[in-house]
Amino acid sequence: MDLYEAINTRRTVREFEAGPIPDDVIGRLISAAFRAPTNDHMRDWHYIVITDRKVAAKLIDIIPSSVSDEDMDALIRDWDLSDPVQQECYRSAVPKQYRMLYDAAAIIVPLLRQKTDILHPDNLSHLNGFASIWCSIENLFLAAAAEGLGCSLRIPLGSEGEHARKVLGFPDEYLMPCLIGIGRPKAGLEPVRQKDIDLSERIHRDRF
Ligand SMILES: Cc1cc2nc3c(=O)[nH]c(=O)nc-3n(C[C@H](O)[C@H](O)[C@H](O)COP(=O)(O)O)c2cc1C
Repeated sequence: MDLYEAINTRRTVREFEAGPIPDDVIGRLISAAFRAPTNDHMRDWHYIVITDRKVAAKLIDIIPSSVSDEDMDALIRDWDLSDPVQQECYRSAVPKQYRMLYDAAAIIVPLLRQKTDILHPDNLSHLNGFASIWCSIENLFLAAAAEGLGCSLRIPLGSEGEHARKVLGFPDEYLMPCLIGIGRPKAGLEPVRQKDIDLSERIHRDRF
């Protein structure tokens, strides 16, 4: 698959077929992740690959396994989501947060070394490590698409990051930007409709 095909076919996948992913495939994905640009030339990243069901269950037991319709309505109201396409994206994604990781063949946890307080940066460059790991994560997503695999993605909320640190034993100076579920996309999945973007309104020549 060429790069543009991988870019154009990559979608967030939250429902998976059962079955493992071979270790050599996981190795290729993480190797692709380590080819991403890096702010400080160090690529001080680690990836924890979790295939042990017991560890996976412990890691995600903090994530709500269901969301009521009332909670969903409240979230849409509280987050002031007025766009109908965006609302449908959230209505599709939010109830799947637990299963999309539980049913994945593997959970992949990226880690970056964060030397300053990420929540109180003094300037943009203090976020460079965070920006770099997201380049790395996108490489992994594109490599997964090229392998015919799909990825889900969860940003840790509340104490989920600290919970992951305890379960997985990673050191204090490392930060988990997200949890990634990876597997073969469930057959017949209907992709969630995305907002149409008219590129002619987004590309600016010489000035905004
Ligand atoms: C920074 C970031 C945070 C995201 N957080 C979540 C999340 O917590 N849970 C989730 O299910 N998807 C999450 N997503 C995935 C988005 O919902 C998804 O990328 C978006 O709906 C576009 O769909 P696509 O990836 O299929 O193109 C996140 C994506 C990004 C880039």
